[in-house]
Amino acid sequence: MGKITFLPGGKSIKARPGQTIVSAAAAARVVIPQRCGGHASCLMCRVVIESGELTSPTALEVRKLPEQDIAKGIRLGCQAKATQKDCTVRIPESRLKSVVQAALEKQRKENEE
Ligand code: FES
Repeated sequence: MGKITFLPGGKSIKARPGQTIVSAAAAARVVIPQRCGGHASCLMCRVVIESGELTSPTALEVRKLPEQDIAKGIRLGCQAKATQKDCTVRIPESRLKSVVQAALEKQRKENEE
């Protein structure tokens, strides 16, 4: 069993080889957004491999993700599976959350002036 660590929170869990990253995340009580039920169509479950390894990209991932994203270690959490080896994956911040945080930061700076 390899250990999967989820960033940014840093929670980790031992995952069975072949267990999807979404499944391992749920077992570790880490939320990975998803809408399609693991059918590789919503692309919301993207994770980035920071270190270690997962199974090779599936045919669905190769079809759905740009080649350069796969080269950067971006994977679909519903398709990528744990191996015997440890792996650290980063769950990207949602775009909506980034936009809201930027707006709040701007507002805070304006209030300070
Ligand atoms: S859960 Fe929708 S693409 Fe993975």
